[in-house]
Amino acid sequence: MLATARSAALIGVDAVLVTVEVDVSPGLPAFNIVGLPDQAVSEARERVRAAIRNSGLPFPAARITVNLAPADLRKEGPMYDLPIALGLLAAQELLPAGALGGTLLAGELALDGSVRPIGGAVNLALLASQERLDVLLGEGNASEAALIDGVKVYPSRTLREALHHLSGLAVLTPAEAPEHSDDGPAPLDLADLKGQGQARRALEIALAGGHNLLLVGSPGSGKTMLARRAPGLLPQLTRAEALEVTRIHSAAGLTSQRSGLIRTPPYRSPHHTVSDAGLIGGGSIPRPGEVSLAHRGVLFLDEFPEFSRKALETLRQPLEDGEVTISRARASLRYPARFQLIAAMNPCPYGSQSVFKAA
Ligand SMILES: Nc1ncnc2c1ncn2[C@@H]1O[C@H](COP(=O)(O)OP(=O)(O)OP(=O)(O)O)[C@@H](O)[C@H]1O
Ligand SMILES: [Mg+2]
Repeated sequence: MLATARSAALIGVDAVLVTVEVDVSPGLPAFNIVGLPDQAVSEARERVRAAIRNSGLPFPAARITVNLAPADLRKEGPMYDLPIALGLLAAQELLPAGALGGTLLAGELALDGSVRPIGGAVNLALLASQERLDVLLGEGNASEAALIDGVKVYPSRTLREALHHLSGLAVLTPAEAPEHSDDGPAPLDLADLKGQGQARRALEIALAGGHNLLLVGSPGSGKTMLARRAPGLLPQLTRAEALEVTRIHSAAGLTSQRSGLIRTPPYRSPHHTVSDAGLIGGGSIPRPGEVSLAHRGVLFLDEFPEFSRKALETLRQPLEDGEVTISRARASLRYPARFQLIAAMNPCPYGSQSVFKAA
């Protein structure tokens, strides 16, 4: 028997549809996943087998082939556990024909059959709204996905709940978007800063005008302190901007269950040992870098000269274009990166006093 479920893959911050085809045919018991799966997707076999058995559902002793289409797109992460498991159950006729057609499925399965949250739920929900599909996710992702208007997001705690929902036995209630947008701790106040009138004015002008800023001063003069107060001076993000920022943070798996839209401009201050991929994005499992996590907010590079020359050079493109394009062998990823750069440095590695003495 063949069953087809729908899921998605992330390319940069955009989600694209992935069709999960599950074929169960007679033969020696085997379980293969094809369609460019990475290690985490291949390991789905073990999780799916255990989750189905521990949910008290039948696991076929037959030849199972799972195909993730389109076959030339790399599939990463554990989010295909849920569609594969439900596809397997549908292939055994535990679900009515067509039950999987109208729902986008994504979730990692625990061995006991509970559904764990995944990264990129907001991006998936956006795709579902374009494709006019419902979304079925782990409970931990549901409120986040419900931020997208016009999509029915069903939160499922376990594989069994998902099965009952799709077969119409016990339909789940759609999740609602959290009422309060997250706003984290209150931003630091510029009132804590004593004196430094010029530096403060420079910061205010830079933030108001969208300029980048370099703070140069002797140790302990308050550069770090000043830069930390930058996000408090920026206005709240509009809904469209907040959605953009939330998508990036969701793709990076940084949004939490209760957090709603990210309304406060982000503030990122990576350490100077940050890797190129950490700063710009990409890596073997592609993730948005610090420049994209700071999109619509502030990227603060403290101790600026300590960053590697290469890292600083890679900042040129995002600073000019407002986005990062990472070309890989199989795909080219685009991450928005329109941030304000604030950098801080001492006049020389020994501090201004030493310079003075040496002169
Ligand atoms: N203008 C100021 N008003 C109030 N407190 C200040 C001021 N400048 C410095 N401080 C105090 O000194 C501490 C150290 O300042 P800060 O870390 O911002 O200095 P810095 O310029 O970043 O130094 P470094 O070059 O060593 O990184 C602050 O946490 C704050 O407590
Ligand atoms: Mg400092």
